[in-house]
Amino acid sequence: MKTYPGDYVLDPTGRRVVLQDATAFAALRVAGQVAASCLDHLTSFIVPGVSTAAIDRIVDTYLRDHGAIPATLGYHGFPKSCCISPNHVVNHGIPAEDVVLHDGDIVNVDVTAIVDGWHGDTSRMYLVGDVAAPARHLVGATYDAMMAGIAQVAPGQQLGDLGHATDAVARRYGYSSVRDYVGHGIGRVFHDAPDIFHWGKPGRGMKLVPGMVFTVEPMLNQGGPGIRQLADGWTNITRDLSLSAQFEHMVGVTSSGVEIFTLSPAGFHCPVPPLADSFSAAPALSAF
Ligand code: MF3
Ligand code: CO
Ligand code: CO
Repeated sequence: MKTYPGDYVLDPTGRRVVLQDATAFAALRVAGQVAASCLDHLTSFIVPGVSTAAIDRIVDTYLRDHGAIPATLGYHGFPKSCCISPNHVVNHGIPAEDVVLHDGDIVNVDVTAIVDGWHGDTSRMYLVGDVAAPARHLVGATYDAMMAGIAQVAPGQQLGDLGHATDAVARRYGYSSVRDYVGHGIGRVFHDAPDIFHWGKPGRGMKLVPGMVFTVEPMLNQGGPGIRQLADGWTNITRDLSLSAQFEHMVGVTSSGVEIFTLSPAGFHCPVPPLADSFSAAPALSAF
């Protein structure tokens, strides 16, 4: 990868997009794998009766035991070490003792690890006990949407190609893409330029170049795209109280395509089988 210290390009709003070099990619790989293995570790703990506060404690302990700091703790005042968003919660759910997971729930856990100043940001859906078919379908579609977006990542491709691909999967199944939150550039900074829209037009938007690092994190709602924030100032829920799902990977543009920094080491990619061949350049996938 031909990037130099201080290399950057400008996004459409004039913000600097840092181009990371091979040393940075190695560091992002480490941070990404700590976050992904933390999500793997949670799998056996996400069962009916567990509180989201208990899951948060497991995340906090796991990260610190693996040389990482939880990026969300104290971030703009966020009080916990991860975000946990069940059912109709879209994102940024605050772990709490009185939020208890029940049989049939779906839930997103979003973990961001900081290792040596570098961020690793990833989230995944989990099934709590026996989950009904419609909720499982939403989870599968959301995973497909994320992977369809990632399959568009390569030098010369444009961010509109990525956004169109994620939204096309949502629409194909009658779901809607949340527009109030977007993916983001990431590196030494948690949320950096560019914005990664989960909708768009092919052939539009920023051109991808080697060294760009960002997240792909589509949120799909069963009903309308509208969301509402609770009085805690963080928790976002669907306006119509329909179910919402999200997956998130942190990726880097390489000279030949894409590197996914946050692939699950255990192979726990998605808790339901992929729905369709909605992506072509995806890496090895398996259900668990
Ligand atoms: N990890 C989230 C993301 O994917 C951000 C959470 S910020 C918090 O970008 F403050 F809500 F924790
Ligand atoms: Co993110
Ligand atoms: Co995240």
